[in-house]
Amino acid sequence: MSDNKTPQKSTGLHIGTPAPGCKKKDPILVADNIKKSFGGLTAVDVAHLEIPKNAITALIGPNGAGKTTLFNLLTGFDTADTGEWHLMGNSLAGVPSFKVAKMGQVRTFQLTKALGLLTVMDNMKLGAKDQGGESIFKALLPGTWRKQDNEIGEKAMELLKRFKLDAKKDDFAASLSGGQRKLLEMARALMTDPTLVMLDEPMAGVNPALTQSLLDHVLDLKQQGMTVLFVEHDMHMVRHIADWVVVMAEGQVVAEGPADTVMKEQAVIDAYLGAHQDTDLGVVTGRIDIIDEGGAK
Ligand SMILES: Nc1ncnc2c1ncn2[C@@H]1O[C@H](COP(=O)(O)OP(=O)(O)OP(=O)(O)O)[C@@H](O)[C@H]1O
Ligand SMILES: [Mg+2]
Repeated sequence: MSDNKTPQKSTGLHIGTPAPGCKKKDPILVADNIKKSFGGLTAVDVAHLEIPKNAITALIGPNGAGKTTLFNLLTGFDTADTGEWHLMGNSLAGVPSFKVAKMGQVRTFQLTKALGLLTVMDNMKLGAKDQGGESIFKALLPGTWRKQDNEIGEKAMELLKRFKLDAKKDDFAASLSGGQRKLLEMARALMTDPTLVMLDEPMAGVNPALTQSLLDHVLDLKQQGMTVLFVEHDMHMVRHIADWVVVMAEGQVVAEGPADTVMKEQAVIDAYLGAHQDTDLGVVTGRIDIIDEGGAK
């Protein structure tokens, strides 16, 4: 769980010069030649990408760069035109999303997918893998099912407590604030004990009062040994929690590197940061120190 110290950034993640497609010392995800077009538009065209294990990687880039589409492809929510990618050596191309989640790779959505007319607890239970109640064979053994259901319930409660949503467990998800729904989605993703957690704009639309809590939860995932890949437009969040940054533009990876150096590259400033230097949540307090980098705010 959280301590109150500023967590150390992981360094030395790559081999050789930080550049698009550069190798990582210990990659958890390796992707090759992933392409996806919609009609005449090439949304994703990634030649090679490695995501470092047990680190926090930010995927940034302008609107329409292909970040969400890449997430959709990697997690089996959409089908790639070409490509191969492996999670810890296991091929994921063509694997449907529910199996990808079982294999340890989960994601949250840019627009939250919490089911409003289900309770917070039922949303959590839906996130659990190997739901015995769904299998006809196991349904014939109700004792087994009940035991598993209890275990799932206990695990859900533990996570809801961690995300301070336990008091809301019987409320409909629709009654939660936007930020609470983001927290619920993250908590639900953790029901499957993932190794790689992919978050699509976890901070978007979140009330400043909840931003610190969200940042801390993301940092905690790394402390617990998980790997995080997140898409974010908020450059403060990226600077302060990302160990590694991948920059996309027009479907391609155009730069990669540690947060503090990659964001100073002219190509990145031209492609993206020029228009986004001012994007910020306004309030980032607590264990993340804001360093005013010479007008970078
Ligand atoms: N289902 C679809 N059908 C047609 N075009 C699509 C579809 N999904 C995405 N696109 C197009 O693909 C491109 C990449 O979109 P994508 O949503 O991946 O961008 P993004 O980097 O996530 O942008 P944002 O930062 O705004 O979320 C855009 O031009 C978008 O209009
Ligand atoms: Mg997107």
